[in-house]
Amino acid sequence: PTIHLKDYRPPEFLIDQVDLRFELDPDTTQVEATLAIRRNPAATRGDGNLRLDGEQLELEYLAIDDRPLARSEYRVEPEALILRRVPDRFRLVTRVRIHPARNTALEGLYQSGSMLCTQCEAEGFRRITYFLDRPDVMARFSTTLIADRDRFPILLANGNPGPSQDLGDGRHLARWDDPFPKPCYLFALVAGDLHQVEDRFTTASGREVSLRLFVEPEHHDQCEHAMRSLKKAMRWDEERYGREYDLDVYLIVAVSHFNMGAMENKGLNIFNAKYVLARPDTATDQDYLGIQGVIAHEYFHNWTGNRITCRDWFQLSLKEGFTVFRDQEFSADMGSRDVTRIADVRNLRNRQFPEDSGPLAHPVRPDAYIEINNFYTATVYEKGAELVRMLATLLGPDAFRRGTDLYFARHDGQAVTIEDFIACLAEASGRDLGPFLRWYAQPGTPELEVRDQWEDETGTYRLTIRQRIPATSDRPSSGPLPIPVAVGLLDAKGRDLPLHLADEPAPTPAGTRVLELHTDETSFRFVGLAARPIPSLLRGFSAPVKVRYDYSDQDLVFLMTHDSDGFNRWDAAQSLAQRLLLQGVSEPNTPLPSGFIDAFRRTLTDEDADPGLRAEILTLPSEAYLGDQMETVDVEGIHRARETLIGQIATTLRAELLATYRANQDPGPYRLTPLAIGRRALKNLALAYLMHTSDDETLALCQAQFAAHQNMTDVMAALRWLVEAGGETADQALDAFYRRWSDDALVVDKWFGIQALSQRDDTLLRVESLLDHEAFTMTNPNRLRSLVGTFCLMNQLRFHAASGAGYVFLVDRVLELDPKNPQIAARLVQALAQWRRFDETRRGLMRGQLERLFHTPDLSKDVYEVVAKTLGSS
Ligand code: ARG
Ligand code: ZN
Repeated sequence: PTIHLKDYRPPEFLIDQVDLRFELDPDTTQVEATLAIRRNPAATRGDGNLRLDGEQLELEYLAIDDRPLARSEYRVEPEALILRRVPDRFRLVTRVRIHPARNTALEGLYQSGSMLCTQCEAEGFRRITYFLDRPDVMARFSTTLIADRDRFPILLANGNPGPSQDLGDGRHLARWDDPFPKPCYLFALVAGDLHQVEDRFTTASGREVSLRLFVEPEHHDQCEHAMRSLKKAMRWDEERYGREYDLDVYLIVAVSHFNMGAMENKGLNIFNAKYVLARPDTATDQDYLGIQGVIAHEYFHNWTGNRITCRDWFQLSLKEGFTVFRDQEFSADMGSRDVTRIADVRNLRNRQFPEDSGPLAHPVRPDAYIEINNFYTATVYEKGAELVRMLATLLGPDAFRRGTDLYFARHDGQAVTIEDFIACLAEASGRDLGPFLRWYAQPGTPELEVRDQWEDETGTYRLTIRQRIPATSDRPSSGPLPIPVAVGLLDAKGRDLPLHLADEPAPTPAGTRVLELHTDETSFRFVGLAARPIPSLLRGFSAPVKVRYDYSDQDLVFLMTHDSDGFNRWDAAQSLAQRLLLQGVSEPNTPLPSGFIDAFRRTLTDEDADPGLRAEILTLPSEAYLGDQMETVDVEGIHRARETLIGQIATTLRAELLATYRANQDPGPYRLTPLAIGRRALKNLALAYLMHTSDDETLALCQAQFAAHQNMTDVMAALRWLVEAGGETADQALDAFYRRWSDDALVVDKWFGIQALSQRDDTLLRVESLLDHEAFTMTNPNRLRSLVGTFCLMNQLRFHAASGAGYVFLVDRVLELDPKNPQIAARLVQALAQWRRFDETRRGLMRGQLERLFHTPDLSKDVYEVVAKTLGSS
C-alpha cells in the first residue's frame, strides 16, 4: 500500500496527555498507557470510530473512562486497534505485553547487550503501545519505569527526573516527566547497568543543565570527546541561532545495537556507540569528527525537529535537511572550513548524485512511499541540507537569521511543513521564495552549461549559464530553479579581480560574488577587465549541481594551484584527475599532460597551505565515483587506470613523498586540532602513494608506523596497506591487531572492514570465511555493515567481479537478514541500485539476483519497495 502526500488529512482525534507505566523485563514487558483523547475540532468527522496504530502487541486490558470494553466495542487487527463509537473526549487505558529480547528489528523496545532501549522514529512507537503514531499528534508524556534493581539500576526516559522509589521486592521505580508536547516518535526509555559520566552547562540565560553520558561500564574512559562536543554544540547554537536548551537534564546513551547513527529523543538521545566512544588509540580522526558532528546533529534537533516537528513524514527534510546544514556549519566552525566542505561535497557526489540519477531517485520532499524507513536517504538529508544552504546564501546571514528567528517564534510547539519554513524565510527577507519550492519537488541533479566570451576591444567578459534539469519519466519538469552561483574571476597571476557587472555603477571588491539564476539561461557581463580572466565557478559548491565548462588542462592546473577558494582548488584537481583517469580507461597509454605532475609536486611541497587541504587535493577520485561519470562502468578499466596513475605519481615524486611523510610526523600526544588532523592526513596520503610499490624501504616505514601504536588513525592507515601487500605481512598484522583489540567491538568492526575493502583478488573468499569468524554476527548492525556493507557498497572492484559471485553473496545475506531486520536488509539491497549502468553481463547477473529477491515470498515492505523500484516494476 503506497502512502501519498496528497492524501494528508489532519488527525480526527488528538491526544493531550500520555501516562506510560512500564514493568520492564527482557522476555515480557508490560506497558500500561493512559491517554487523554479528544476529537480534533479542526478535522472532519469520520465514522465515529477511533483507529489506533499497534503492531505485535498482546492486548490484555482496555477501558474507556474506567469501564472495561466488551468484545463488541473494539476490534484488534494486525496493525491496529479499532474502538467503535468513542465519545468526543475520554480517558483510554490499555495494557499490552511485548517481548524486547525477541525484537530483532531494533524498532520499538529492544534489548542491546544487557540493556533495554528504544528506537521509535519513524513508526516504532506502535510496537510499544496502541497510539496515534503520526508526528502531528503531539502530547505531554509522563513515564514510570519499574524494573529489577540489580539488573537495571539506571532507568531513564524523556524530560526531567521525577520521584523514584524502592519497591521492596527487588524492583525499583523511576518517574520522568516531559513538559514539552511531542510526537511519539521522540519517545525513549533506557534501562540498564550503565556507567555515568556527568558534566554541566550553564545556558546563556543562566539555566543550569546537568549533562549525563551513559555507556557500558567497560567504556568509561571513552566519553570525554563526546561530552566536549556536546558542550561546544550547545554554545554554538546559542551564538549562531539564539537557541537555548530547555530541560534540567540532557541525557545521551550509547548502545551497541543500533540501526542508524543516533536518535534525537527529547532530552534522552540514544546513540549508536560508534558515534560516542573514542580514545586516541581506538578511534581515528574521522571517527572523532563523526562523533562531533552527530552529537551536534542530535542536539540541534532539539529545536529543529523536537520543539518544531514535521506535520507528516513527507516533510522529513524539514528537520533533517535543516539539521544537517546546521551540523555541517558547526563542524566547519570547529575545524577547517575548506576540508569540511570538501568532505561534505564528496559525500554528496559519491552517495546522493548516483541516488538521484538511478531507480531510487526521489525529490527532497518525496510524494509517495511504501515504507518510510527507506526515505532516510542522502537525498532527504544531504541534498536537503544543500537546499537550506542555498537559502542561506541567497538571503545572506542577517536575513537568514531573521528568518530562522521568525520560524522558531511562530511555530514553536507545532508540527509543520516545508512551506511554513520557507514562508518565514520569505517574510523575513522580503524575497519571493515561491519558485524555490521547486527544488523540493524536482528529483535529479541539475546541470549548468557555462559558456563565455571575451571582447578584447571593450574589456568585456560575458558568462552565459544555462540550466538543464534532467527529465524524469514520471513527472513534468517543475520549471527553472533559483540557483546561487558563487564565482570569482582570476587574472594571469591567480589573483581575484574586482567584479564589475555592466548594469551596476561600480565594481564589487576582488573576491567571490553570488550570481543568481532564475531563468533557463542567464548572461552576466563583466566590464573593465584588462585581459581575459579565468573563471572560478560554483565556489564552495554553492548549489548541488553539475557544472559543464570547457576548461583546458592548463586552466585546471592553474586553478588547482592558484584559486583563492580552497574548495575550488580541490575541485579543479578532481576534474583534472577525473579527465586523465577516464582517458586512461579508454586509451591506457596516453602520456600525462605537462604540468600535471608539477602541480602535484607543488601542492605536496607547498608548506604555506593547510596540510589537510593539500591532502584532499592530492587524493584521486574513487573508483565508484569514476564509474558514475562513465556511460557504462568499466570496473577493471577504472581500477587499472587509477592504479597506473597512482604508480606514476608514486614513482616520479618518490623523494617528495618520503620527505612529506617524514616532515609530518608528530610524535607528541594526540591532538585534534585541524592542523594536527591535516598533518596526519597528508602523511598517511604520502604513505598510501609510497606503499603502491611497497619496496623494502616503504614496507619498513609502514610496519614501523603500525607497530608504534601512536593513535588509531596511523595504525589504520598502515594496516590498510599492509593488508593490501598481502602474504605473511598482511596476516601477521591482522592477527596482531585482532589479538590486541578483540574486546573492543568498535575496533573489531574496523578489523572486519579493512579486510572487506581489500582489492586483493581473494577478497570475496575471505569475506565469506569471515562470516564464520567467532566475532562475526548478523545481529549487530555495525558488525554486519563492517563486513557485508563495506564489501558490497565500498569495494567496487571485488563486489562487481565479472563472475557475479559478489551479487549472489549479497542476496544470500539479504534473504537471511530480511525476516530479522528489514531496515538493514533494505539498505544492503541498494548495492544493486546501479545495475543498469554496467556492461551487459553484469547487468544480467544483477538483474537475476534482483529477480531472485523479487520472487521471494513474504518479503518485508522495506526490501520489496527497494527491489521493485530498482527493477522498475513499481
Ligand atoms: N532522526 C535520526 C537522525 O537523523 C535518524 C532516525 C532514523 N530512523 C529510521 N528509522 N530510519 O538523527
Ligand atoms: Zn537527524
